[in-house]
Amino acid sequence: MENHSSEKNRSKLLLPYEIRFANPSDAQGIIDCMQSVMTERIYLISEIYLFSERGQKDLIRNRDDLNLVAILNDEVVGTVNVQRGIYKKNRHTASLGIAIKSGHRNKGLGSEMIRMAIKWAAEQNIMKLNLEVFSSNVGAIALYRKLGFIEEGVRKKQFLVGDSFVDDVMMTIYPIETMNE
Ligand SMILES: CC(C)(COP(=O)(O)OP(=O)(O)OC[C@H]1O[C@@H](n2cnc3c(N)ncnc32)[C@H](O)[C@@H]1OP(=O)(O)O)[C@@H](O)C(=O)NCCC(=O)NCCS
Repeated sequence: MENHSSEKNRSKLLLPYEIRFANPSDAQGIIDCMQSVMTERIYLISEIYLFSERGQKDLIRNRDDLNLVAILNDEVVGTVNVQRGIYKKNRHTASLGIAIKSGHRNKGLGSEMIRMAIKWAAEQNIMKLNLEVFSSNVGAIALYRKLGFIEEGVRKKQFLVGDSFVDDVMMTIYPIETMNE
């Protein structure tokens, strides 16, 4: 049976895509990617991406944080943002957000980008990597579990998505270990 997590399979799946650190010149591409996923309305809290191109460039330049992009034919088709806590009290933590454009999902991009984010967090001596996900997003939750995240808490009926209330599932990797590479 095919082993989906093998290095060989991962690189084969990802062959047409380039995954790299974002540059300020990726700002508009990231905005378009985020807006495209927000327009689907069912995965992310906001439905309108609020950063301007200038604001997005500032985010990318923030050396405290991680911004990754997946590129296909010069188009940003996926992006990961990891924001480190800004206070002395939470600098050992960071929050991860990810969005892959429709049509580019289930090809291994999310797994690879999150693995890179975990590795980066470990290198920054971040101890705890957090994320929040709608309980309705079963595919994402399965992926996060596969990559080592555990559920830390649930806020019941925290969001109204379409006509349904969904829970806010808080997940974390703690402690981050380099073996998650
Ligand atoms: C969630 C998301 C980031 C995952 O990225 P991706 O590139 O599609 O993920 P991958 O291809 O690396 O892996 C998908 C995994 O989820 C699994 N999966 C997908 N749907 C599933 C489902 N309904 N039930 C169980 N597992 C599911 C796949 O089997 C695959 O696991 P495998 O590698 O072991 O086969 C991406 O789909 C996405 O951006 N979705 C829309 C936005 C979003 O939900 N963002 C996260 C908000 S918290």
